[in-house]
Amino acid sequence: MSLLKGNTFISALDVTDINALAAKALAYKADPLTDKKLGEGKRIGCLFLNPSMRTRLSTQIAAQNLGMEAIIFNVGNEGWQLEFEEEAIMSGKTVEHVKDAAPIFGKYFDILAIRTFPSLVNKEDDYSELYINQFIKYAGLPVVSLESATLHPLQSLTDLVTIKETFKEPRKPKVVLTWAPHVKPLPQCVANSFAQWMNAWGEVDFVVTHPEDYELDKKFTGNAPIIYDQDEALKDADYVYVKNWSTYNDYGKIYSNEPEWMLTQEKLQLTNNAKVMHCLPVRRNVELSDEILDSPNSIVTQEAGNRVWAAQAVLSELLKK
Ligand code: CP
Repeated sequence: MSLLKGNTFISALDVTDINALAAKALAYKADPLTDKKLGEGKRIGCLFLNPSMRTRLSTQIAAQNLGMEAIIFNVGNEGWQLEFEEEAIMSGKTVEHVKDAAPIFGKYFDILAIRTFPSLVNKEDDYSELYINQFIKYAGLPVVSLESATLHPLQSLTDLVTIKETFKEPRKPKVVLTWAPHVKPLPQCVANSFAQWMNAWGEVDFVVTHPEDYELDKKFTGNAPIIYDQDEALKDADYVYVKNWSTYNDYGKIYSNEPEWMLTQEKLQLTNNAKVMHCLPVRRNVELSDEILDSPNSIVTQEAGNRVWAAQAVLSELLKK
């Protein structure tokens, strides 16, 4: 049975069996080249409309482990500026319509992987996922999200894999997603996505904590308790996932940058010696303190390393279709 419902991977909703997909990622970690012939003669195009380090490199390595060729195209810096609106009169900065460009990628590649970011200006546009949906509509081939306007599914699958890999007790771990300060407004993607995957997985006690007015879209947080008192939320946590996001309701703003929301060793004492996670890149001593990042509680490097296996599990499912 395929672990993906269709030909796209843009959200947890595209997965038939999350546990099996995570197990597959861990199996690739144990034996990276077991499916080296699966992607022979196939090519993945990785399009970046925004910067990346981990996503770009891990996807490339995952493709190579499956015998595929990966071609990276930094559309944002090196390509023609794309237009995504239907019936646009292209008299401004945009040079090529996605309707014309995407079918060409369909001729060159077997799988298309795309990173876009939100504008953080127009909530309706961002939450309609216009960019990635236009690629899906016009490319005519399997599409993988390398982070979209509202979600970051390969990151979240990685995070889930990392929890599965490190938690060995015969009970559900308590996982806390906590807001952290930052110097500029960031997307809600990683937080939305982490919440969506934790809820869909269902094998953790999941709690969200943030200052008032930083509510995320209920579509992603679901029934997870939202606790405004960070200390209370952290009690007995086994995992603390740290991430900043800008406001969702009054879209794309920073209301406060309260430094007391930064996780410290003192706060970690409230937890069950929790492992600390972050998707990276991280602003040291703004989002997370040196003392935490440099302590044995931090598993951010292990987490980033697992990006390869999550990507490999997803690509192999698409190749088998
Ligand atoms: N976590 C993550 O997506 O990292 P990059 O932005 O470096 O790809």
